[in-house]
Amino acid sequence: MSMISDSARSDIENWVDKYPAEEKQSAVMAALRIVQDENSGSLTTELMNEVATLLEMPEIAVYEVATFYSMYELKLVGRHKICVCTNISCMLNNSKAVVDKLEDKLGVKLGETTADGEFTLKEVECLGACVNAPVVQVGENYYEHLNPAINPDKIDQLLAELRGES
Ligand code: FES
Repeated sequence: MSMISDSARSDIENWVDKYPAEEKQSAVMAALRIVQDENSGSLTTELMNEVATLLEMPEIAVYEVATFYSMYELKLVGRHKICVCTNISCMLNNSKAVVDKLEDKLGVKLGETTADGEFTLKEVECLGACVNAPVVQVGENYYEHLNPAINPDKIDQLLAELRGES
């Protein structure tokens, strides 16, 4: 039985239609994002194999994409995945303090998920918002200027928002 819903299949087909018929595999990144979103934020071998079948490409080629890019998860993640940029601009603007504060507030280290399954803390490379460093991404939203030495309440506000408290 397929693990991919009809709705997700339809979304994937829309992406496939953007490319020449003989280049279906060009939709692999979109397809992985769609099935990951549908599976609570992570991929399984079965899902990746189904994507390979849909796009008529070798399973190993799908695994290569899924393991190369940091937005794909191969193990369960929390309801909110907080991606903390520690690349150069963010590092120069105190991303270490952002990490320290998030680790302290959530009681987990980078790469870990809180016991209640609410939050995963992840270190990522440049998010492309360097001018507003330091930056974190949660889902499709960016949270910027998070240096606790300059904006001491912003991380607390972010967590309150994610917990539905604000
Ligand atoms: S270095 Fe952090 S957004 Fe570019």
